[in-house]
Amino acid sequence: VAARHFVVLSNRSPCSVVEEGSRLRLGSAVGGLASALRPLAQSDQVTWIAAANSRAERRAAIQGLDGNVHFVAVDEQLYRGYYDEISNSTLWFVHHGMYDRVSGRPFDAGWLRSWDSYRAVNRLFAKAVARSAPAGSVVLVQDYHLCLAGAFLRADRPDLRICHFSHTPFASPAELEVLPTSVTREMLESMSCYDLCGFHCSQWEEAFRASCESFIGQSPKTFVAPLGPDPVSLEAQASSSACQAYGQALEQLVGGKRLIVRVDRLEPAKNHIRGFRAFDELLQGEERWRGQIVFVALAVPSRQSSPEYVSYRAEVERVVAEVNERWGTAEWTPIVFNVGDSPDRSLAALQRYDVLMVNPIRDGLNLVAMEGPLLNRNHGVLLLSRTAGAWATMGNGALAVHPFDVFGTRMALARALDMSRRERAARAAMARHGARLSSVRSWLDAHLRQLGIAHGPQIRPSEVERPTDEPSAHLDLEAAIRR
Ligand code: G6P
Repeated sequence: VAARHFVVLSNRSPCSVVEEGSRLRLGSAVGGLASALRPLAQSDQVTWIAAANSRAERRAAIQGLDGNVHFVAVDEQLYRGYYDEISNSTLWFVHHGMYDRVSGRPFDAGWLRSWDSYRAVNRLFAKAVARSAPAGSVVLVQDYHLCLAGAFLRADRPDLRICHFSHTPFASPAELEVLPTSVTREMLESMSCYDLCGFHCSQWEEAFRASCESFIGQSPKTFVAPLGPDPVSLEAQASSSACQAYGQALEQLVGGKRLIVRVDRLEPAKNHIRGFRAFDELLQGEERWRGQIVFVALAVPSRQSSPEYVSYRAEVERVVAEVNERWGTAEWTPIVFNVGDSPDRSLAALQRYDVLMVNPIRDGLNLVAMEGPLLNRNHGVLLLSRTAGAWATMGNGALAVHPFDVFGTRMALARALDMSRRERAARAAMARHGARLSSVRSWLDAHLRQLGIAHGPQIRPSEVERPTDEPSAHLDLEAAIRR
């Protein structure tokens, strides 16, 4: 089968929309998923459809935009039910195994109205595809926001080849049991309308298959394809002058000390608190490290409208303050915790770490675990949860951490800090190798192979633009140095 048209569907658009008076244009990339997939948006064989979620995007949904990104207009109240209530506060937690069985959100009448909104938005996406996709197009639907689009697409446009890809973990049958059974069945039945369902690693693929078997007695075709970073564009941005300026500022901050780094979105699955507790225990148990290590934690704010995220952030900040209070001195701040969205600052920290802590409770993949080893110039050691999808390709070079085991994480930190240069170098080389095994190209090719399609769209990942920093983000790190 020859090349054809591709349609990508995701909640968030790959680029922001900038208003310039009455004119609208596409701006820089936003969000991790969108950045990783952005090379696709640059192909003229691809149309991208996203939900309008800002004033500018709502205008773009009505006016249209030059280029191949289109927006679905979604009423604000509908969007809240679909995005805040169902996607973020329910499905996200259930798939990460983090639904709180004692005081988790009740699935009451209000919640069921949100489920109706979720279904309605999925219907809007499917309608937008049905109206515009050329015959025989391949439709690539992204993530837990759009599980129900499968059934609508199958009914409206049987000529399309439709694929779903989960960038998160997938819940096991026991974890899915907490949802009302009719809802679980609707979700899985709709997902089985896709020709293909993809996952970053076999752990999530198996959980999905088991859940399908258990609730609906059948499972669609599935496949595994991690979506790794693009080393060429990563290196290009890391060698920018902005990034180097951060590198110098970081060097001053660290002085001759050892450097632990973490870079994550500020969200509960990332497990910041247990990571800081492990560091606290290390300082408690091994006096020789006091004053000799800096833990730079760069946190990207996320979903600030969600009460769970707001209280998580407050708790993380409280623990940072407590550890700094306990061990800090006039000359030494043990944890330098920075909240902000600065890709350049993050890349500078990844180039320089001695130890990179990636200890999520659960993660679909975890790009930082792959970007770190690609960029690091210091034979830094990667500490990684086995429950991150990236473990499948990065595990060889990494030291494993159990996300709930604070003492074990402390011991892994100590081991990494004491590791011989030779072992560090060997592990770093293995991790680099692991990080190079997948890319947006291999990810897309895996879809096409499964569908029996010979050629996909032309993409040039090395030309990907990444967002650059706001000047204010630069000042944050300088302020941290002064502290
Ligand atoms: C994380 C997840 C993705 C998801 C994205 C949505 O990056 O790994 O699977 O699509 O969050 O984030 P947003 O900020 O758009 O809710």
